[in-house]
Amino acid sequence: MDIYDSTEELKDYLKNHHEEIAKRYSAAIREVCVKLTALKEDFRVLKKRDCISTIQSRIKSDDSILKKLSRKKLPVNLASVYHELDDIAGIRVVCKFIDDIYTIAERLKTQGDFEIIQTKDYIKNPKPNGYRSYHMILSVPVTVENITEKVSVELQLRTVAMDFWASLEHDIKYKKDSCECNDIVDELKFCADTIAAADLHMMELRDKVSKKRLQYKQFTQ
Ligand code: GTP
Ligand code: MG
Repeated sequence: MDIYDSTEELKDYLKNHHEEIAKRYSAAIREVCVKLTALKEDFRVLKKRDCISTIQSRIKSDDSILKKLSRKKLPVNLASVYHELDDIAGIRVVCKFIDDIYTIAERLKTQGDFEIIQTKDYIKNPKPNGYRSYHMILSVPVTVENITEKVSVELQLRTVAMDFWASLEHDIKYKKDSCECNDIVDELKFCADTIAAADLHMMELRDKVSKKRLQYKQFTQ
């Protein structure tokens, strides 16, 4: 593996080999998206409703890769990029209800298409600012130009409500010169907790309605 002496050299390498690098990560994203789409179809038949609202994906930009290497104090070389960073390929699955997240995660764990390298449950253990999502790092076998290798993909599973909070919090935090003041963190957490309570309430309402529907069906039969 080539070793790059400076950030500039690696930056040039990433730029000049962008297509080649993107190919392996987009192949991995494709594999996972095919699986997620199959699960979505499965659940549509099984539960008679959609569990997944949207599936988005992205490949980390060269600048973000370099920033992350520097933040993590990793050697500035291609080996670090390929073997140390596990979120160059990212997929975000936005689900309708909280239990849909666990159903999908469980299927991914038990169906054995991909090795699960790591899971982080920020729903059961929210971050101090209230951030909630379920994160997984998958190891995905991909074949590019006859060579098969394992590529990491970061999967974020969250509800529509959690996504609403995360995208606004991201804007507040990154697009302005905001501080990390305690009162701001507390207020963000207050909003996240309010949204989380609504998420649980919606799930209860869903179950209440389907119970009533079932009772009505049995009554009219
Ligand atoms: P990294 O080294 O940055 O990958 O740290 P980590 O692996 O501990 O990160 P973590 O799994 O906590 O978060 C990874 C991704 O989740 C981030 O890049 C964001 O997309 C998302 N995320 C995590 N925390 C927050 C948060 O507080 N707010 C928002 N909006 N997104 C978050
Ligand atoms: Mg990470």
